[in-house]
Amino acid sequence: MASCGTCESVCRSFVCFLLLGIVSPSRSPVYKLVPTWPLVPSHFQAQEFSTGVLVGGNVDEVFVAQRGNVSTKMNVFSEDGTFLRSWETEKIDMPHGTRVHIPAGKTSADAQIWVTDVGSGPWGHTVKAFDRNGTLLHVLGTPGQAGTGKNPVQFDQPADVAFNAKGEMYVVDGDGGLNNRLLKFSPDYKLEWVSGGKGNNTGEFYIPHSVEVDVFGQVWVADRANNRTQVFDGASQPRFIGEWTSCFKGDGPYSVRFSADKKYLLVIQLNLSRVLILAAPSKPGFLGNCTVIDTIQMAPGVKPHLLSVSQSTGAFYVGEIGANQSQKFVPMH
Ligand SMILES: *[C@@H]1O[C@H](CO)[C@@H](O)[C@H](O)[C@H]1NC(C)=O
Ligand SMILES: *[C@@H]1O[C@H](CO)[C@@H](O)[C@H](O)[C@H]1NC(C)=O
Ligand SMILES: *[C@@H]1O[C@H](CO)[C@@H](O)[C@H](O)[C@H]1NC(C)=O
Ligand SMILES: *[C@@H]1O[C@H](CO)[C@@H](O)[C@H](O)[C@H]1NC(C)=O
Ligand SMILES: *[C@@H]1O[C@H](CO)[C@@H](O)[C@H](O)[C@H]1NC(C)=O
Ligand SMILES: *[C@@H]1O[C@H](CO)[C@@H](O)[C@H](O)[C@H]1NC(C)=O
Ligand SMILES: *[C@@H]1O[C@H](CO)[C@@H](O)[C@H](O)[C@H]1NC(C)=O
Repeated sequence: MASCGTCESVCRSFVCFLLLGIVSPSRSPVYKLVPTWPLVPSHFQAQEFSTGVLVGGNVDEVFVAQRGNVSTKMNVFSEDGTFLRSWETEKIDMPHGTRVHIPAGKTSADAQIWVTDVGSGPWGHTVKAFDRNGTLLHVLGTPGQAGTGKNPVQFDQPADVAFNAKGEMYVVDGDGGLNNRLLKFSPDYKLEWVSGGKGNNTGEFYIPHSVEVDVFGQVWVADRANNRTQVFDGASQPRFIGEWTSCFKGDGPYSVRFSADKKYLLVIQLNLSRVLILAAPSKPGFLGNCTVIDTIQMAPGVKPHLLSVSQSTGAFYVGEIGANQSQKFVPMH
């Protein structure tokens, strides 16, 4: 263990777990670490990260939001790890879920970079869209004010945001505050419905920490403190479809994202320092049992928090807590 601590300070966790021999050789790995990403890590100056990826058209940008007392709240890299630019903005307090969205009929040049803000400063408790250069485009919620309201809508530490193919938006609210709910907004950001409430019954949540939409338009909620993912038909009213619990006995799900080829659901378990690679359901309306295809086990003490997937290269990027790093993994095949 001591050797890993040393190793971690000079290299990446992947090397540590190779040295420690933690990896089970029984399955062929689905992803591998890219230890050289980003090329110059010194742009990371904070302890906590979340990521979003925009690749398509002639744009190749990985957005890495960072927390802490820094003026550069967002660093932008290319997928090969070249530092491109950073946003100097006071309009992000404590970034959490980060997601790139291209509105219908628009191109990647008009992409929106959505950031949920769990901070308690003047811009906290909001869900915000920026353009690629960090200019604020939209704000949902009441900046600086936690609340439970629906009109106007208020959040308390909103955790993540997702879009379906129609551009409708889902928000999970939140990361341990007053609310434990899932909200749906129209493509022009009008609140359509709110569901949930604190609890462990079907349709209730306890720290809904991440949200994702699958190829069938179903909405996946990482119901973290309930150690489960719940899935809903996200249409006019949220209809419960099913849940997975068996994979999350040892720690709740922190971040849920589908792989670019849609074969896998990638799930972070922070306390277990790992990313689970689960088989995605093959048909709508039916989840089946949770099946682990592979596990990326990081070194003890590494705290992966939120991840995002490049729809173009299939790579995924993990934002961590407590280390000045964000790591890139690429498919083996
Ligand atoms: C992270 O970067 C900051 C600013 O450069 C530095 O003060 C801190 O010691 C670094 N932390 C780690 C764990 O490397
Ligand atoms: C944040 O950083 C600024 C500039 O480095 C410094 O003046 C300020 O005291 C810091 N604030 C906190 C709360 O650490
Ligand atoms: C971002 O800034 C660059 C360089 O100034 C400019 O070419 C580009 O059009 C800007 N993009 C947006 C979305 O504002
Ligand atoms: C659900 O919550 C109730 C009330 O807090 C508690 O008594 C019960 O043990 C919980 N059930 C599970 C499976 O965690
Ligand atoms: C979730 O799992 C953790 C770790 O096994 C456990 O400590 C906790 O009690 C579980 N929570 C619920 C609600 O089952
Ligand atoms: C996660 O780890 C922290 C300390 O590392 C501990 O306080 C907490 O109870 C753990 N949570 C679960 C769900 O195991
Ligand atoms: C799920 O697991 C249970 C318990 O192991 C088993 O009885 C059931 O057949 C499984 N369902 C599917 C769809 O594989």
